[in-house]
Amino acid sequence: MICKIAMNGFLGRMGQSIFQESNNHQDAEITLGCDSDNKINSIENNFNLTLTSNITEFTELFDVVIDFSLPIPSIAAINKCVELRKAITIGTTGFDNDQLDIISKASKTIPILLAPNMSQGVNVTFKSLALISKVLKGYKILIKEIHHINKVDSPSGTAIKMAQVICDSQNTPLGDIKSSKCPIKFESLRQDTEIGTHEVIFTDKNDEIRLIHIANDRSIFAKGAIQTAKWIKDQSPGLYSYNDFMEDAL
Ligand SMILES: NC(=O)c1ccc[n+]([C@@H]2O[C@H](COP(=O)([O-])OP(=O)(O)OC[C@H]3O[C@@H](n4cnc5c(N)ncnc54)[C@H](O)[C@@H]3O)[C@@H](O)[C@H]2O)c1
Repeated sequence: MICKIAMNGFLGRMGQSIFQESNNHQDAEITLGCDSDNKINSIENNFNLTLTSNITEFTELFDVVIDFSLPIPSIAAINKCVELRKAITIGTTGFDNDQLDIISKASKTIPILLAPNMSQGVNVTFKSLALISKVLKGYKILIKEIHHINKVDSPSGTAIKMAQVICDSQNTPLGDIKSSKCPIKFESLRQDTEIGTHEVIFTDKNDEIRLIHIANDRSIFAKGAIQTAKWIKDQSPGLYSYNDFMEDAL
């Protein structure tokens, strides 16, 4: 059976990349494109699907939602999914703690997958980081990330997740990442059209270990978005990570 997907943030960089990627999946189709009122009203629809700024008007058109937008429209989409009892996979980053609480509460009613990075390569890097960090206690840790100039949040969701993975494996609280007491330092650079580079540097007096992931094409995230959408649709209500999907389905 074909999985029918509503794409929230359809006209954005990731929304369009996911639309392209859907051509490579015979069992999935983007059937509804959702974006802001402004964008929907100002664009000519050459996409051969329905465009809307309100997914609740077309509930019969989709089984599951993929969201790559901004935190506020993402929370609005989650609330609509709760109302409609439909699953959602969220790639949006930059949520504050109150918004994360809303997501957590919503996951008691519907299945939600929340992943600041949907690429298999980065998620395997998370696993390697956990392993390395367990051994390299006492090393100074710096996470450097580079993204395009239009990226809104900083440090990136992936950089924060990397820091969380390291701290969990070292049994140390990450705490406030903006505080000078944070055990991990961050450097964020915004340049050109860079898709996303993350480098973690462990430094001690006598050596240095560097782990780097370079995203060369958005299709790596788009593939994960479609795969997780197909998977999350069939899960019980709960809050899932990309790792939960990876361990169960890949
Ligand atoms: N998880 C991942 O693997 C991953 C990868 C890349 C980007 N991201 C994140 O995904 C998000 C989107 O990134 P992008 O580069 O596509 O951004 P973008 O700015 O190109 O696209 C965002 C889209 O959301 C739309 N939007 C704004 N208000 C809306 C509303 N009310 N309803 C529906 N849509 C609305 C915008 O008009 C825009 O088209 C960001 O948070 C980014 O950090 C995550």
